[in-house]
Amino acid sequence: MRQHSSAELLGVSKEVCELRDEIQRVALCDTKILITGESGVGKDLIARMIHRCSPRVHRSFIALNCAGIPETLLESELFGHVRGSFTGAYRDKPGKLEMANGGSVFLDEVGEMTSRMQGLLLRFLETGELQRVGADRLNTGINVRVIAATNKNLRHMVSQGTFREDLFYRLNVVHLTISPLRERREDIPVLVNHFLSWFSTGNGRTTRPISPEALKLITEYGWPGNVRELANLVERLVVTGRRETITPDELPPEIRERTAGGAGAWQERRRTIVDELYHQVRHDGESFWSAVYPMYMRREITKNCVRELVRRGLQDARGNYKIVARLFNMEPDDYKRFLNFLRKHDCHLPFKEFR
Ligand SMILES: Nc1ncnc2c1ncn2[C@@H]1O[C@H](COP(=O)(O)OP(=O)(O)OP(=O)(O)O)[C@@H](O)[C@H]1O
Ligand SMILES: [Mg+2]
Repeated sequence: MRQHSSAELLGVSKEVCELRDEIQRVALCDTKILITGESGVGKDLIARMIHRCSPRVHRSFIALNCAGIPETLLESELFGHVRGSFTGAYRDKPGKLEMANGGSVFLDEVGEMTSRMQGLLLRFLETGELQRVGADRLNTGINVRVIAATNKNLRHMVSQGTFREDLFYRLNVVHLTISPLRERREDIPVLVNHFLSWFSTGNGRTTRPISPEALKLITEYGWPGNVRELANLVERLVVTGRRETITPDELPPEIRERTAGGAGAWQERRRTIVDELYHQVRHDGESFWSAVYPMYMRREITKNCVRELVRRGLQDARGNYKIVARLFNMEPDDYKRFLNFLRKHDCHLPFKEFR
């Protein structure tokens, strides 16, 4: 399949509009940026946009995916190596950080780094010095802008001791969070139309219109694979479709049969950040104030996440907010503060339906 690449972050939701503004703003200064969001939400796309809007635009943008590469190879990819430093190292080779000098480097899936690699990266971020594998001397004065991305909850990893706290604070100077597509459904029709004309043009076909019924089903689906999954579906519809209009019967069963395998099924299949936070609070005994509140205030999780947590709490507490506060490990005196917080941030759900 041909990979879709859009240069722009498309969408009309408040989240996407705010994100576009923020990208423009933060691109101009040289701060490190951490991008988080589920797989397929557009982290890659955002990293490239930041580079494109930054003063470094005429220098290199180099991406490196830190997942699934053995540690020694990752070290050599990132920092380079000298000839003879390991079997197969036939010549000196600069790493991505050196190659991106003057430009930006994008470290994708940074949560997958081993602790030794985390230490090496931290040293580079603190001193600007790096050492190629097998070299005796240090290279200094490397100037790259680091953009990192992850679909993990790094703060939780820090509390579990699997991600270095000092590195987390270094990377997390500016934090951009991208909501999953199911939390900004108003973007779906825009994306569908964009992908329809993109793939039709790419395949030399005229763009088929989509019926309102089919678009409704697509908009209501849960999209566990987010925009990537949506793009793949539209490409399939463009390539395989025969009729004049795209109708519901061309859609795969999980989208067509919502109750059988659609909106509900993805929730069972994947562990979302809400699942993780709920687990932390209900099973690991962490308090709402230490696990959820700081993340929300730093905009690392969305309002919808907090609402979903409250919804689950209300479900377990049969609609009693006092019990929710207890389930979320708060002191009895904190009940008022909790309700005030929820009201102020528009996360106070009506409790009657849970009674
Ligand atoms: N808002 C958007 N507008 C246009 N295209 C988008 C948007 N969001 C994502 N895409 C497209 O969807 C595809 C997936 O996006 P991308 O690769 O950036 O996701 P990702 O978050 O990096 O995923 P992963 O975690 O799996 O690496 C890309 O082809 C990208 O261009
Ligand atoms: Mg990516």
